[in-house]
Amino acid sequence: VTVRDCDPQKPSYQIRRLDADDASAVRQLRLAALEACPTAFLASLADESRLTVADFAERLAAPDAIFGACADEALIGMAGFAVKKALKARHKGVVWGVYAHPTWRGQGVAEALMRAVIDYARGQVEVVQLAVVTENLVARRLYERLGFQPYGIEKRAMKVDGRYLDEEHSALIF
Ligand SMILES: CC(C)(COP(=O)(O)OP(=O)(O)OC[C@H]1O[C@@H](n2cnc3c(N)ncnc32)[C@H](O)[C@@H]1OP(=O)(O)O)[C@@H](O)C(=O)NCCC(=O)NCCS
Repeated sequence: VTVRDCDPQKPSYQIRRLDADDASAVRQLRLAALEACPTAFLASLADESRLTVADFAERLAAPDAIFGACADEALIGMAGFAVKKALKARHKGVVWGVYAHPTWRGQGVAEALMRAVIDYARGQVEVVQLAVVTENLVARRLYERLGFQPYGIEKRAMKVDGRYLDEEHSALIF
């Protein structure tokens, strides 16, 4: 999965807002995430493998955005942001699809991506919401560290292979 504009000289990873030219790489990473982590996301591989590169390009376009982490020209992490479409909800945005490639975990990739999303969201909305499966303690700690405040638990939010998963809903209010 290659991404333009990454500096291969730098040893670590870089965070940047992805653009339409990255749509194919985003699609690949997103589908890999859905395949690897079926209980982490509400969306499923079956749902999203139908989406085209053009569909992902739409998710990259303002006011929505996707931030990527790249290392050695490969996209190794992502975090999406979408502004609610309804007129009376346009002051709210949702974070979706936070993912770090397994070999890059525990190195601050997701935190750096989330900080980039929050910086961007500050200029777009007043409230940022997200949902996280209650058993996903790493992700929950990350979001709380960044100031997201849980406001409710949705029981049985997902059903995966016959098993129910609850989701914690959190918000960051600017
Ligand atoms: C959840 C997920 C996105 C976290 O990604 P990550 O890049 O590993 O996250 P971070 O590195 O920013 O933080 C994770 C932990 O590593 C620690 N960490 C951060 N930088 C570090 C560093 N340089 N060295 C060692 N540890 C570090 C963080 O303190 C954190 O520790 P904690 O869980 O004890 O609080 C990743 O595990 C993932 O993709 N999981 C599968 C999909 C998923 O669950 N997505 C979230 C859906 S809501």
